[in-house]
Amino acid sequence: MRGRNDHLRSQSWNPERYAKNAAFVPELGRPVVELLAPRPGERILDLGCGDGVLTKRLANAGATVVGVDASPEQVAAARQLGLDARVMDGAELEFESEFDAVFSNAALHWMHCPRTVIDNVWRALKAGGRFVGEMGGEGNVEAIRSALADALARRGIDGDALFPWYFPAPAEYRQSLEEAGFDVCSMRLVARPTALPTGIDGWLETFAESFLSALPEDGRPAFLDEVRARLEPRLKDADGGWTADYVRLRFAARKVGEG
Ligand code: BEZ
Repeated sequence: MRGRNDHLRSQSWNPERYAKNAAFVPELGRPVVELLAPRPGERILDLGCGDGVLTKRLANAGATVVGVDASPEQVAAARQLGLDARVMDGAELEFESEFDAVFSNAALHWMHCPRTVIDNVWRALKAGGRFVGEMGGEGNVEAIRSALADALARRGIDGDALFPWYFPAPAEYRQSLEEAGFDVCSMRLVARPTALPTGIDGWLETFAESFLSALPEDGRPAFLDEVRARLEPRLKDADGGWTADYVRLRFAARKVGEG
């Protein structure tokens, strides 16, 4: 029997597919690494470390880094890079007052109990520790979301009920951080149109499983053709290149008093 939130579990992670279609994710993580400014000797938790490419960059800066991710496949890929990576969900972090910083890139929007995650991050940090991250923010991939929802609606399916992401507005996320006991140092919503190296097909193949899972296998090719056709006028350029309408929420906060 399928439960109400089963679509949230219908996203799987395949490290080879991710490296082929989504290598830009760690590549474009430079601004958030700069905001973190990792220092040699610091102990840093990378929350949602994925295949570890960006985690490795923090380690190369001289920090001692622990990566956690809910996907065993991605954690295995991160371990192949020689990292201390562990299978752990953001809603079930087991750390207490042991990190100088918690870092997260392009992962928090997949976590569905944001307040629990924030409380867990707060607990994992030492007093004065920093929480620095970037995630999809309000309006992120809106063209793609609406094309998926419209094509599903034509098939009698409520695409909004399958929406697997959390894209908060700055004020909402700030409030959650402050309520948990963080001092918010910066919070910015940044439009970042993002070139897709393997086009919209690679993106949908990698990230849209929750929507596709509502369809029978033999109905998926026509569905994808329709979504692609809906998006072409907005996201495809004259040379055939695709650019997704990414909007990032980038923030830095510091652990102060009790939550
Ligand atoms: C993002 O990084 O913003 C993102 C990636 C995949 C799906 C949705 C959002």
